[in-house]
Amino acid sequence: MRLGTAEIFYDKFGYAPEITGFAPGRVNLIGEHTDYNGGRVFPCALDLGIEGSACRRSDRKLRFYSADFNGAGVVELSLDSGLGGGWTDYPLSVFKAFAAMGYRADQGADFVFKGSLPHGSGLSSSAALEVLTGLLISRLCGFSVSAQELAVFGQFAENRFIGVNCGIMDQFASAVGKKGCAVLLDSLTLGYSYARVADDDTALVIVNSGVKHSLASSAYNDRRRECETALAQINGVYKATSLCSLSTEEFERYSYAVTDPVCRRRAKHAVYENSRVAAAAKALENGNLERFGELMKESHLSLKNDYEVSCAELDFLASLAWELPGVYGARMTGGGFGGCTVNLMKKESLGSFAETVKKEYKTRFGREAEIYAANIGDGARILPKE
Ligand code: GLA
Repeated sequence: MRLGTAEIFYDKFGYAPEITGFAPGRVNLIGEHTDYNGGRVFPCALDLGIEGSACRRSDRKLRFYSADFNGAGVVELSLDSGLGGGWTDYPLSVFKAFAAMGYRADQGADFVFKGSLPHGSGLSSSAALEVLTGLLISRLCGFSVSAQELAVFGQFAENRFIGVNCGIMDQFASAVGKKGCAVLLDSLTLGYSYARVADDDTALVIVNSGVKHSLASSAYNDRRRECETALAQINGVYKATSLCSLSTEEFERYSYAVTDPVCRRRAKHAVYENSRVAAAAKALENGNLERFGELMKESHLSLKNDYEVSCAELDFLASLAWELPGVYGARMTGGGFGGCTVNLMKKESLGSFAETVKKEYKTRFGREAEIYAANIGDGARILPKE
């Protein structure tokens, strides 16, 4: 997929870029809010994402242009600029993350970005932008940085400079994703393996609720704190390195130590969700899509009732899908409070599924549900010159 950032680059800056790269967004199959609790996640990279072209400069200037925020025009900063609150904080933070890790760029660069992910859909466009910027910086400056490091630097940029205390899942999926496969990642060790997802008869379908909760990042940080409180209290009676290092049996035995029932429910979600990821990976390996689907449903209900990060629109879309023919499973995906559901279904059912979901959603909420058959693509890469 070429979006033509090289052409836009020429148009904006009057010369040709040195390199063009792409980093994908992600959809998570199962394992939500486990990645900052030492647990497993199971995301896939999409074939939608962000393309970027770049060229090194001889001074310390940074110039950024995004075809998605073209109203902002070319934003001119320098390697020494502080964050300014706009979209360029993401690529600028990645420069700062590289410097903090000992990879200090001494020359600036010009960048053009263009995305193909639906806006505000929770499919990780910011992680894609971070990973892509990291990839372009490392190539332009000749830094030898692995795909895993690109993910870590992207997460560091987001945590330290953007101020969202996210886990590693989104950046990791964007950096190491593989066509046709989900990435089974252990967020504690960063060990991972690939699991082939769809065969010719199966479709992975994303439904965008079109809802975006404005308080999502503060609610996200609240959930993290509640999990930390629960872990600290459990540690008063039983030594555990993280919530997800506990088996469900251990959790049931020691959860009495968590005094606040809200924190206890948050911890319960993390522990059980982590065990569901292991079960889901096994089910996929055995070709048992029915079981996989049941686990998706359990995951959604836990996110709704115990973790409380769903919303009426996502609940409606998930529970409607559970009743439709050919659907193995459906759940909200990503951080929550809006965004998308992910649905695993028989390919032959896609047409009738799309028709029913669009109609029912419109009737209930007066909004359009956007539906995409998700293609699972490769992770971040430099694109060949045209
Ligand atoms: C967001 C974060 C991820 C992860 C998910 C929830 O997408 O960026 O690190 O915590 O929420 O699973």
